[in-house]
Order: sequence, then C-alpha cells, then structure tokens
Amino acid sequence: MTHFLDLWPIPASELRSILDNAKSRKAARKGAPKGLADIDAPLAGRTLAMIFEKNSTRTRVSFDMAIRQLGGSSIVLNAGDMQLGRGESITDTAGVLSRYVDAVMIRANRHADVEAFAKAATIPVINGLTEKSHPCQIMADLQTLEEAGLPLKGARIAWVGDGNNMAASFIHAAPKFGFSLAVGTPEGYEPASIDVERARNEQGRIDLYRTASEAAAGADVVVADTFVSMGDLDAEKRLKDLAPFKVSADLMKRAKTEAKFLHCLPAHRGEEVDADVIDGPASLVFDEAENRLHAQKAILEWCLVG
Ligand code: CP
Ligand code: NVA
Repeated sequence: MTHFLDLWPIPASELRSILDNAKSRKAARKGAPKGLADIDAPLAGRTLAMIFEKNSTRTRVSFDMAIRQLGGSSIVLNAGDMQLGRGESITDTAGVLSRYVDAVMIRANRHADVEAFAKAATIPVINGLTEKSHPCQIMADLQTLEEAGLPLKGARIAWVGDGNNMAASFIHAAPKFGFSLAVGTPEGYEPASIDVERARNEQGRIDLYRTASEAAAGADVVVADTFVSMGDLDAEKRLKDLAPFKVSADLMKRAKTEAKFLHCLPAHRGEEVDADVIDGPASLVFDEAENRLHAQKAILEWCLVG
C-alpha cells in the first residue's frame, strides 16, 4: 500500500516520475472539457473520500476534478459532520472508510492524526495539508517552475516569511530535486530543525537567514505564504513580527532579473506580498493553482496504480 504523506520518505526517482506523469497527462488532455475523463481512465470505478478538518478551496476542488478526470469519483466529508467530530477515533474511522472507498485524502489539524489514520487504513492515504506539511502543493509548485522553463537541479529558491508547513515541504523537496533553498524568517519562525537536518543529511542545501533580503539574493524563485496559517491563534503578533518579510517589488529586485514568484494561495495582498508582485509578470500563482489538479492526478495514480 502506498501513502503520500510527505515527500521525504519517497525516493527521488518516484517523485520524478509523478511530476513527469502530471505533465504528460496535462499535455494529453489540453483543450478537453474539464469534466471529461482522460481516455485511459486509469481509476475507473475507484472512489476517493476527502476529509476536511480545515477550510479549503483549491484542495477540495482540484482533488474532486482530479479523480473525475481519472475516471473515478469522490465523496467530500467535512470532519464536523462526521462521527469523528463527536469523538470517534481516527483509527476506527480509518478502518471503516477502508471498507467503503479506495483512497482517502485528509486535511487535518494534527499531522500525528494523519499518520495514525494511515497506519490504521488498508487503503492509500494522502496528506492534503497538516500543520507540519503540504506535500501535494509542493508537487504542483515544482511542476509550475519546470513548465516555466526553470530546471530544478541547481536552482536557488527563496522562502520568505514563516517557516511553516509549506516551508517544510520545500525543505523536504530540496534534496529530492536538487535545488537549494534559502529560508528567510524572523527569530522564532524558523522551520523545524528536524526537517532541515533531514534534508541536509540527504545532501540538500538549506541556508537559513534572518532577513528577507539575504534569502532573496540571487534567487531564481521567491516564495511567500500567509503569515497566519489555519490554526494559528496569535494573528496580531505574527503580522507584526513577519511584516519585514513581505515580498515587495524591491525585494524581488534582490533576486535574479527573470525571477519568478510563487504563493500557494490564499493570499493577503499588502501583508505577505504586495499586489504589484502577485499580480505582476513574475507571478505564476494561477498556473500553480491549476497544477494542483494535474499534480494530484499523478499522485492519485501513483498511490492506486503504482
Ligand atoms: N493552497 C491550498 O491548499 O489551498 P486551499 O486551502 O484552498 O485548499
Ligand atoms: N500555510 C497555509 C497554507 C494554506 C494552503 C496554512 O496552513 O493555512
């Protein structure tokens, strides 16, 4: 059984094949109506259940369309409507859903719950975001950069702001795809040291800085994310502490002339990024959002077919 919980346990060659499949499926159906299944419909007859403990626009819709385009179907479950929301255990829920559906995507408050769910499930489980990582998003981000003509091997990617779940997934990806990551965060917002050490042990280059300017210097890509993630309770303090890490046109000038801008969305213009950057020519955010669909089709196929 193949789970997609994080990038770090998955061999680089398999991640590479997932990205290649995402790109070729995207190219093969270019121009087709969005609701039409791919000709080979590799997941015909399969059903994906999606559990949401937190809000979602992109993950919800892109996974739903992804399974449809692969010939399968989906069931959306808001955790609050399930017995899970009344205290039924994660492990019983995993055991039960394993008898009904073929795979589960779960967006959870606690990463440990996703791990427990996967351990108890007898079907593939996909992490649709936790407080610790967002592995589906990073696959879409990397697909977007390659499609924009940036070879990942040897690229310099700058992560600016909070060392959050998205930062962790970039750190996990760095050694797998051979790019170096420059992380600029204020004190107290550094990425988890376990992630940094894990990447460095795999010969990943992760450079940690205390300013946005140092992180962005010479970068091929500058990446921002919200300063207040879902579940963060200290919004006011975060907005104040992280304010110097806003991606502005001036900060983009520190990066390479043709540098690209990424943001997983939802964005807050004027907080973590200025409108002239996210709505400007360097921004790839809508390609990035679209690629959630294509990357997740490849993830689903990898989990369910191999
Ligand atoms: N980027 C992302 O995961 O968006 P949603 O929260 O809308 O799913
Ligand atoms: N870091 C953000 C990403 C949202 C897609 C959050 O966890 O809320």
